[in-house]
Amino acid sequence: MHDNDKLRRAFGSFMTGVTVVTTADVDGTPIGFTANSFTSVSMDPPLLLVCPGKHVASYDVFGTTTHFAVSILSEGQEAISNNFASGPEDRFSNVSWQRDNHGVPVIDGACATFSCRVHDRVEAGDHMILIGHIEHVECFDKPGLGYSSNGYFSLSQEQRADTSGAHDIKSITGAIIKCDDHILVCEKDGRLSLPVIEQQDRNGARSAMQQLLETHQLNAELGPVYSIYDDPHSNRHYTFFLVNAADTSAGGLGRFIPITALDPTQFDDNAMSVMMARFATEVRNKVFGLYIGDVDSGDVHH
Ligand SMILES: Cc1cc2nc3c(=O)[nH]c(=O)nc-3n(C[C@H](O)[C@H](O)[C@H](O)COP(=O)(O)O)c2cc1C
Repeated sequence: MHDNDKLRRAFGSFMTGVTVVTTADVDGTPIGFTANSFTSVSMDPPLLLVCPGKHVASYDVFGTTTHFAVSILSEGQEAISNNFASGPEDRFSNVSWQRDNHGVPVIDGACATFSCRVHDRVEAGDHMILIGHIEHVECFDKPGLGYSSNGYFSLSQEQRADTSGAHDIKSITGAIIKCDDHILVCEKDGRLSLPVIEQQDRNGARSAMQQLLETHQLNAELGPVYSIYDDPHSNRHYTFFLVNAADTSAGGLGRFIPITALDPTQFDDNAMSVMMARFATEVRNKVFGLYIGDVDSGDVHH
């Protein structure tokens, strides 16, 4: 005896596309329901199958009809899937569709549609295996809508988000290197900045900074993260660490200046300038926080 809930979850873990299976009753009234039980079966002859369940209101119509159609939904057609799974009585009034040669509805905007003659029906437990002989196929070469027990997904949208996110954003690691009451700054044309390094892997901030300190032979200990922020304008992700140096040899990275002489407005980068103003205050108060946010807004966590 199996556990129904476990079986449902196990079936649901299989990722599929989503289709709308349609037909017309004897009066020509359009009928349809959402199905992910679609399977391509044979090329020669061209066959497919879907499995209407006995719970589906139109089960009897699919048990007698001579023709039906399957529309494979494309990305963005989640609302159509929901409409045909639980939607209103007249499911066809919210959706753009047309009739095929046999008067069976096919859904506009689908990735592909199949118009079928019923080839066979097999009763299978609480479902029917409805096998269709494909008489006409249309293919629109669009990305399909995906489905699993976690809900709908759109692979090509996710891939786009992935490539724009992961590959265009640069990760920068920086350090506020402090030796007693001095900090290390880099200076160029009278403007200040902090030592930074671009890291390859977004998760490798700590080791990138460790490497920078070693390369410049600084006698320094890498401390906690002081600030994490994104700059959406330049597509950069910044992580700044606090570093404690044992002496003021800067190893060519810049020079140590007294914190009291620090003028945050001299920093080229506005976000750095705001961060150094906070740092100067926190040095006075001897309480350091962690900033998480972006260049415009965020929170300091203590
Ligand atoms: C993504 C998805 C896939 C579905 N696949 C099937 C299926 O293959 N067979 C089935 O009988 N019901 C399936 N259903 C459920 C039916 O669409 C739903 O039970 C039916 O439309 C209920 O409404 P009705 O009885 O008024 O037609 C699915 C629902 C969703 C959301």
